[in-house]
Amino acid sequence: MNRPWDTRQYAKTASLQARAAADLLAALAIRPDEKILDFGCGMGNLTLEIAEIAHQGSVVGIDTSLSMIEQAKRNLRVRRLPNVEFLVATAADLRTDGSFDVVFSNSVLHWIKDQPRVLRALHQLLKSGGRLGFQFPLLDAAHPLISACQKAIDALGLAPRYSGWTFPWYVPESADGYADLLREASFRKVAVTRHETRFIFASASAARGFFDAVGLDLISRPLAPGEAGAFREEVHRILASLDTGEGVRLDFSRLYACAVA
Ligand SMILES: C[S@@+](CC[C@H](N)C(=O)[O-])C[C@H]1O[C@@H](n2cnc3c(N)ncnc32)[C@H](O)[C@@H]1O
Repeated sequence: MNRPWDTRQYAKTASLQARAAADLLAALAIRPDEKILDFGCGMGNLTLEIAEIAHQGSVVGIDTSLSMIEQAKRNLRVRRLPNVEFLVATAADLRTDGSFDVVFSNSVLHWIKDQPRVLRALHQLLKSGGRLGFQFPLLDAAHPLISACQKAIDALGLAPRYSGWTFPWYVPESADGYADLLREASFRKVAVTRHETRFIFASASAARGFFDAVGLDLISRPLAPGEAGAFREEVHRILASLDTGEGVRLDFSRLYACAVA
């Protein structure tokens, strides 16, 4: 889904997303001379980290958001790494069939509804034997963004507003089912696992900032302006009720996938 990304808002949570990427980078074991695609690179923080690992190779960061890519290019100018390129594009736009050693993607695939199509496109971009590694959060009913919004919708009697609404994210039914999708897209040595993530925010405002960065706006879209204000306040109140005195704890699952082309 194409969504306007507020890079300043996202910057506040980018380090949380980066923490989730650490296991992925360890599993991919990128070598210094490899060519890597960072699919859905956002502001490019992780792309630049990867470019330092692959210092004799190269990294291409692609993203459909112009604001994200403009910020990534600004970040690159500061870091001055010679082996990085940023493009506004998605996987199917790239014409470099089969040239990547590694495709890396952090917190992106849940934004794409047609998974078989995107997995096939990523497969085509990899060399034979190339590695794919990605993770994305499961925005199922247990995810704190979804559960808090559901509670707010119920409390305010807003359910009728959502009768024609399409849920914006892709949510796989199971890790095994997702592994099958990867195999159907011609990947082998497929490993898909579910990891539990915990974020602790200093306050309800900080937790709501996280919700804003990852898509609260999309859930409030069917609401009239007055309703949207009340909805945000209710979500805030729900987050405040979760504050244990040591912060607001948000627990959710992520799907990690590694495979070989
Ligand atoms: C949560 S951000 C993650 C950014 C970065 N990977 C990180 O870990 O900080 C999700 C990114 O995926 C991008 N995105 C969503 N759908 C995409 C698509 N079909 N092709 C490329 N990028 C996409 C969004 O524009 C956004 O920048």
